[in-house]
Amino acid sequence: MATEGVDRDKRRFLTASTAVVGAVGAGFVAVPFVASWSPSERAKTAGAPVEVDISKLQEGQKVTVEWRGKPVWIVKRSKKSLEELTTLDAGLRDPASENNQQPEYARNPARSIKPEIMVMVGICTHLGCSPTHRPEVAPADLGADWIGGFFCPCHGSKFDLAGRVYSGVPAPLNLEVPPHYYKSENTILIGEDGGAA
Ligand code: FES
Repeated sequence: MATEGVDRDKRRFLTASTAVVGAVGAGFVAVPFVASWSPSERAKTAGAPVEVDISKLQEGQKVTVEWRGKPVWIVKRSKKSLEELTTLDAGLRDPASENNQQPEYARNPARSIKPEIMVMVGICTHLGCSPTHRPEVAPADLGADWIGGFFCPCHGSKFDLAGRVYSGVPAPLNLEVPPHYYKSENTILIGEDGGAA
């Protein structure tokens, strides 16, 4: 059954993410990156917030941390990428983030608190696979119009670098933005919104 395949994919993700470290998109030079977070393994499993140090995150990179058993991606976008986001609206299903997929403080064109830093749950809103970070421009398999984003290999859904879903793909909604806030310049707490919701 199709759902068995999805479950298998999810399990694969969970196995792969137990020792989560920085994941660098194809085409970028691999830079050692280790995310640090404070709660114990048991507390994390119970859903405690996860603290992430992003001081070493480079432009174009994505790091994955686990929160409530889900992958949460933190992506540092370039100014050029942010400008390009403003050109995509016509091809997106929900360009203005009208569906309830983010806290109010992330209902803006960049879907983020700081424009360059995107925080989102890395689970496809179709059937729950984890999409792949595809930052490269116009790769052969995604076409000449592709300017970087996320591609779900399970059934072909596409999302831009703000997690907004393209039109004409199976996924119905933008990727979810979890509650989060900045405890300091380079420290994000995922799982709480610091009273800003
Ligand atoms: S799970 Fe079906 S497209 Fe992502």
